[in-house]
Amino acid sequence: MESTVGKTISCKAAISWDATKPMTIETIEVAPPKAGEVRMKVSATGICRSDEFYRSGQEDRHPYPCILGHEGSGIVESVGDGVTSVAPGDHVISVFIPHCRKCKMCQNSKSNMCTENSSSRLIGLMPDGTSRFTCKGQTVHHTLSCSMFSEYTVICEINVAKIDKEAPLDKVCLLGCGVSTGYGAPLNNAKVEEGSTCAIWGIGAVGLAVIMGCKVAKASRIIAVDINPAKEKIAREFGATDFVNPKSLDTSTVQHLVAITDGGLDYTFECIGNVQTMREALESCHKGWGLSTVLGISNPKDDIKIMPFQLVTGRTWQGSLFGGWKGRDSVPGLVKEYMSGAIKLDEFISHKLSLDRINEGFDLMLSGKSVRSVIIM
Ligand code: APR
Ligand code: ZN
Repeated sequence: MESTVGKTISCKAAISWDATKPMTIETIEVAPPKAGEVRMKVSATGICRSDEFYRSGQEDRHPYPCILGHEGSGIVESVGDGVTSVAPGDHVISVFIPHCRKCKMCQNSKSNMCTENSSSRLIGLMPDGTSRFTCKGQTVHHTLSCSMFSEYTVICEINVAKIDKEAPLDKVCLLGCGVSTGYGAPLNNAKVEEGSTCAIWGIGAVGLAVIMGCKVAKASRIIAVDINPAKEKIAREFGATDFVNPKSLDTSTVQHLVAITDGGLDYTFECIGNVQTMREALESCHKGWGLSTVLGISNPKDDIKIMPFQLVTGRTWQGSLFGGWKGRDSVPGLVKEYMSGAIKLDEFISHKLSLDRINEGFDLMLSGKSVRSVIIM
């Protein structure tokens, strides 16, 4: 086959034109990578709640048209000047939080919130202020520095983790967001201890991965909270010891949880993105030491409310993004954990769809019928 290196590639991508319309599959042009960038042939991408956040225009600073998708795996096709950590043919996973290893955040072991390229990423462009995508003569924006709903994409070197070539790309893509996000929060951020009690609000892929992390941390009790009763079965398969459906309680969720845990939980996790359940998760913590971790992404216009006395009496509220993992250093190890059987991935995948069925994948997510749909390119 003729080499594509240095040339523009024509391929298929799902374009989001505006918040009101479904995505459409179009032929796009993908320019070669510039300095510090990598062009990647995408193999598979999970559909995540945060894609809907951008698709529906809740992040109102983000421009259209754009290509969504940030939970992807693939193979490096070519690299721009100065790229040293990956080479053509390498297998990679996209990491939507960059990991430059140089900025203040990267140098601090307490955080994974690398700030490199944050201004260009917010407006859907590469660091030089331009896009690598066009469609019908029009500029198409990048999203979260990833844009994986395309057969080819251009991504910064600091947004790709090089992984073992033996790993199945159609599974390990989930380590690019949802599974790593949930699995890392109890281990890296909450630091759940053996024998402790935990509760998780929202049993999507993120909540299931939190359950998986709590189980690895040897929590004695893992309570899954979800208004969809169909989630009980899978929650228990992942290690939940109890299932609570707030809709079938006579009391409030907080009262119920405090009653069944002798005063409250040691650790709680909010994996929905709803400010009311964030409050419930904090109020369900045990006085003196209970720690609540927010993973859900809420509407930016919403505020969280709490009676300050809840905090004064020794409960702690914190947040976690991408499970606290520093992407390029941690994701290759998570791939190894999956390959050795230490963590699950296959069990998260409820649907596999081709790119032309992408809107169906979003419908499945919004109706609660999927755990994760993976788009196979
Ligand atoms: N109380 C309890 N459960 C709820 C409630 C509620 N008020 N509202 C929704 N849920 C449940 C849904 O029934 C569903 O099972 O929350 C779950 C959410 O799962 P998904 O929609 O699959 O979301 P997921 O991909 O896991 O992401 C969860 O984490 O990283 C963030 O952006 C992500 O905010 C999102 C959250
Ligand atoms: Zn950094």
